Amino acid sequence: MKKPLIPDDSPFLAHETRKNRWAIPYHPECLNARINHLLAENPGHIQGKNILDVGSHMGTFAYAALMLGANFIEGIDTEEKMVLLGRELFQEMGIAKDKYSMTVSDAFQFLENVEEGSFETVLCLGMLYYTTEPYRLLKLMLRAAKESLILDTFTAGYAAVQGKDAPQVYAGINDETLELPIMLTALTQPGKKDYTLPNSFDYRNKDLSLITLPSSTLLEIWFNSLGVEFKKLDWSSYSTRPCTYRDLLTPDQKKSSHWADVYKSGIRVSYLLSK
Ligand SMILES: C[S@@+](CC[C@H](N)C(=O)[O-])C[C@H]1O[C@@H](n2cnc3c(N)ncnc32)[C@H](O)[C@@H]1O
Repeated sequence: MKKPLIPDDSPFLAHETRKNRWAIPYHPECLNARINHLLAENPGHIQGKNILDVGSHMGTFAYAALMLGANFIEGIDTEEKMVLLGRELFQEMGIAKDKYSMTVSDAFQFLENVEEGSFETVLCLGMLYYTTEPYRLLKLMLRAAKESLILDTFTAGYAAVQGKDAPQVYAGINDETLELPIMLTALTQPGKKDYTLPNSFDYRNKDLSLITLPSSTLLEIWFNSLGVEFKKLDWSSYSTRPCTYRDLLTPDQKKSSHWADVYKSGIRVSYLLSK
């Protein structure tokens, strides 16, 4: 069997604090499957390309893209300690300094100031839902991309299972409503294990942030309105069982779920957008 790009003893995994969470755990199997499906299986958008990784965290996907033949990778993230850790890890891995840049930057600020078509490919993996303006972010990323955008994100179905009281809060949601061109919003704590979301507000003495979750139908309407072609990536070869959002409601269901269930259920989707 081919050696995974991120082996079990990789320094990227040694620093990973998110190995055991239920949705998109950063354990070797899920991480390498995502690298494989999102990057390795799209070589025409990675090999020889100058790539921007929006929300690059400690640079795991940026590193993988370079190993898969990218020419140059620019990683941006608002969390300084993750950017600094990424730079350390790249040095430890012996990556030539002229192959990458990692900077602390807010996605909007960076994208508003970058020239149109500055990168052939833009990656936005696990980040679109952290903004309250996902359409504006998409538009800006497509402006920065000369050729393509690879997007991996949670959808409205994630709001329907988010939090203990989701079934009550979203009692009116069902499989049909999740197919509508809607966007749901959920509250989240800005302080995550290893990064803090850049925007938060005070509500009843609690610091809160918003996640915004468009349905895949709405995402596809947005893609059409922005004049790009898109292909929804098919994760079915990774699935272990039929699964809908209703199989992921309770803590026990979440705990015993397989990582690919979020894709199977449509709670998370990935797209390759081409200009
Ligand atoms: C869930 S992690 C995703 C990391 C990585 N892309 C992946 O898929 O494994 C989200 C990252 O987005 C960053 N982030 C959140 N809001 C951001 C913003 N407005 N601009 C840049 N980065 C942001 C966070 O600091 C965090 O590192």
